[in-house]
Amino acid sequence: PQFIVVTREGEERSIDADAGLSVMEAIRDAGIDEILALCGGNCSCATCHVHIDPAYLDALPPMSEDENDLLDSIDDRDETSRLSCQVPVSAALDGARITIGADE
Ligand code: FES
Repeated sequence: PQFIVVTREGEERSIDADAGLSVMEAIRDAGIDEILALCGGNCSCATCHVHIDPAYLDALPPMSEDENDLLDSIDDRDETSRLSCQVPVSAALDGARITIGADE
């Protein structure tokens, strides 16, 4: 699946990632170093915050209570917010724009 990542500088990068990775891993593997992912993808740091194209949100696996609670600790949370380590790369993301969340 292929999706577009918008960096904090506003640069758009098209990423072709393997299904099975998390979006966090796919962004990191593409060499974009703006996602700290301090907890290594364990849903406990919230440094992997992204905004997902609203048109694609409903097709993603729903967020867990833990993810929701962590997102609440982020200033720029909005209705498009997800933690990228909790979103699997899948065909459901094909063509989506994913914007890296603000530096907290
Ligand atoms: Fe820590 Fe996603 S990498 S919550």
